[in-house]
Amino acid sequence: MKRIGVITSGGDAPGMNAALRAVVRSALHRGVEVLGFHHGWRGVISEEVTPLNTKSVGGIINLGGTILRSARCREFREPEGRAQAMEVLRDNRVEGLVVIGGDGSLTGAKVLMEEHDIAVMGVPGSIDNDIAGTDYAIGFDTAVNTARDAIDKVRDTAYSHDRVFVIEVMGRNNGFIAVDVALACGAEGVLIPEFPFSIAEICENLKEQRSKGKSSSIVVVAEGAGKGNEVCDFIVKNTGLEARAVVLGHMQRGGSPSAFDRVLALRLGALATNRLLSGYRGEMAGLVGNRLVTHPLSYVLSQTKTVDAERLLLLGVMAQ
Ligand code: F6P
Repeated sequence: MKRIGVITSGGDAPGMNAALRAVVRSALHRGVEVLGFHHGWRGVISEEVTPLNTKSVGGIINLGGTILRSARCREFREPEGRAQAMEVLRDNRVEGLVVIGGDGSLTGAKVLMEEHDIAVMGVPGSIDNDIAGTDYAIGFDTAVNTARDAIDKVRDTAYSHDRVFVIEVMGRNNGFIAVDVALACGAEGVLIPEFPFSIAEICENLKEQRSKGKSSSIVVVAEGAGKGNEVCDFIVKNTGLEARAVVLGHMQRGGSPSAFDRVLALRLGALATNRLLSGYRGEMAGLVGNRLVTHPLSYVLSQTKTVDAERLLLLGVMAQ
């Protein structure tokens, strides 16, 4: 290959810039040119393209967001949109494409490869951490730490006022962020979509904890399990305790990536690029059990990754 393309696509995640840096510098190291397409698949379709050199990705390893920008692109979901994207890639003599993004973006890469026979490689980037084939997606660690920092602060005021605080965190249809941050902050309860914990059960637990002397509590709610405000109202009605809700929202997507996310991004970005340049295609780079791996996208996208029940049990024991 003489020239490859790269995009960051879907919801941005801290560490995407570090991954981009790894893709560009790994390719240049092997004498291969890199074109960056802005705004994910949308920028491929509309030919928003810039050549990237080593300087283009200097000074970005510590930056949140993505300098290439990102987007969710409806047009690319249609065959006509993908055909247009492929025409642009051909016109720009792009022989392979590295896609940094979540499951939607990786699905797009797989479909493009199947329809148009272009070599693609995936790098998992999503704060939700719901991508199979890797223990960690780029951005998850930073998002958990951002939520942890916010909840530690809320804990101070919860304690001063003897209140319950319900904290709604992101995660789309899963509870990876919720469970890890609940554990890290010593939360008294967590609601996630994967396990059928009822709010009524949480209310009972909160009352019991109060009877044992606890004066304030944190309940973490994954957005896929319910709205923080509604859970808060339910708790007030059913326990008589004073409660407030905080929705952390998009702050979880921003901020300087943690050292873990930076190193993960560099390793996965470099691996995906080196595999692409060595003739492999249709794979995603991942980290499983602290080892770098690659899996076919067809495998990754057919699996469902779920939260460990062990973590939830631990939370229950710790929250007595
Ligand atoms: O996938 C990342 C994520 O932040 C989810 O946690 C959340 O549900 C969604 O994206 C929000 O998407 P948007 O930024 O398009 O509102």
